[in-house]
Amino acid sequence: MSSTAILGCMWGDEAKAKIVDVLGANADIVVRFQGGSNAGHTIIIDNDKYILHMVPSGIVNPKIICVIAPGVVLNPFEMIDEMQGLKERGVDFSNRLLIDPRANLVLDLHKDLDCKSEQGTNGNKIGTTKRGIGPAYADAVARTGLKIYHLYDEVTLKSMLIQIYQSHDRNLTETELKEIVEELQVAAEYLKPYVKQTPYYLNEQIKAGKEIIFEGAQGSLLDITYGSYPYVTSSHTVSGGISIGCGVPPNKINKIIGVYKSYFTRVGEGPFPTELLDKTGDQIRTQGHEFGSTTGRPRRCGWFDAVASGYTAMLNGVDEMALTLLDVLTGVGDVKICTGYKYKDEIIKEFPAEVRILAEVEPVYEEMPGWEEDISSLTEFDALPQNAKNYIKRIEELLGIPATIISVGPDRKQTIFR
Ligand code: GDP
Ligand code: IMO
Ligand code: MG
Repeated sequence: MSSTAILGCMWGDEAKAKIVDVLGANADIVVRFQGGSNAGHTIIIDNDKYILHMVPSGIVNPKIICVIAPGVVLNPFEMIDEMQGLKERGVDFSNRLLIDPRANLVLDLHKDLDCKSEQGTNGNKIGTTKRGIGPAYADAVARTGLKIYHLYDEVTLKSMLIQIYQSHDRNLTETELKEIVEELQVAAEYLKPYVKQTPYYLNEQIKAGKEIIFEGAQGSLLDITYGSYPYVTSSHTVSGGISIGCGVPPNKINKIIGVYKSYFTRVGEGPFPTELLDKTGDQIRTQGHEFGSTTGRPRRCGWFDAVASGYTAMLNGVDEMALTLLDVLTGVGDVKICTGYKYKDEIIKEFPAEVRILAEVEPVYEEMPGWEEDISSLTEFDALPQNAKNYIKRIEELLGIPATIISVGPDRKQTIFR
């Protein structure tokens, strides 16, 4: 009887979905509480690969109920595509997918706005996924956003559509409005069987002693408040966002598992102190297949940053760490961990609040001998090469958190528990 959060503690793509899938073996419910289709969550089960965007990763396990909570922004058309894709692959979710009526909608309008602002020449490019996430959250905060429940009230739907388009200086013609309404109503009918208030459901299930997993999307360094602003996403990705996103109070969240890659990656713009713009960076990208699950963009790769990781461990209250993609470091030579930032003539140990400073810091590294052995089929910690064990232990020491799960390959089975 417990609830566990599984949260990305870097710039996203930490292999959260794999960890949700592995721990999901004992879970009853998996909840997505923020983000939208900007997420790309990969699960591999015996060579069968699933990439999920809005649907919680529990969907591949037939005994798990999947919840899309109010904090998620949902594109109804992309959601239906995702559901149909799963159906075609034989995944039956007819009685185990719930969508909260309060979730805000991502409209085509939001995708257009996202694409436009990314094309801007004003130097404001964020490198977003162009899924309309920022504009949808902005409308939600501006109180002009449409919610799932608006889809079932034609009069309100029409007037809100007119209002939201007008607020972005677009006047819809009668024909355009009619088309948008019709498309949305078709989508609404498809989604209707799944729409249900989820805060009551989740709190009742917690009372009943069910095992719940809160599946984070993105990562703490992309958090709208605590991340490398403005190069962030538009939601609360840290553990505090769970309660806001799904209506489960903080004192009902029992454990926080922070997911950390064994090295760092980032997609999109923004400073990245430990980025490797050399052969080692290329080798990590190739060995780790570091290309975005949502956009296919090459991910920027770099050494493990213990300053940034310590910051996110603190923000989230990480109890245990899942250290992933350790196998990717095989054969890269000596490995480095950033233990401080040099800024002007000082060594700083805190993640800077200002992105301008983050862009100027130079990482201070500790270097450790690497390993050459293929570790991707190991299932015992003791069987790891001594240098790999030393690397893990040093990260644990620096963060003050035990690495209880070590992932050595993308498949469920390629996991070491301690
Ligand atoms: P998420 O967004 O945090 O769920 O992560 P992604 O799915 O976007 O990216 C993680 C990538 O690494 C996916 O392609 C996974 O299949 C893969 N992966 C997960 N764990 C491991 C691992 O331990 N080793 C390797 N080599 N790949 C992994
Ligand atoms: P998962 O859940 C990695 C990044 C984008 C961009 C910034 C803002 O798979 O870890 P957005 O489209 O959210 O407005 O983009 O955030 N980003 C991610 N990077 N993994 C993700 O999700 C991401 N979702 C958004 O690349 O830099
Ligand atoms: Mg991802």
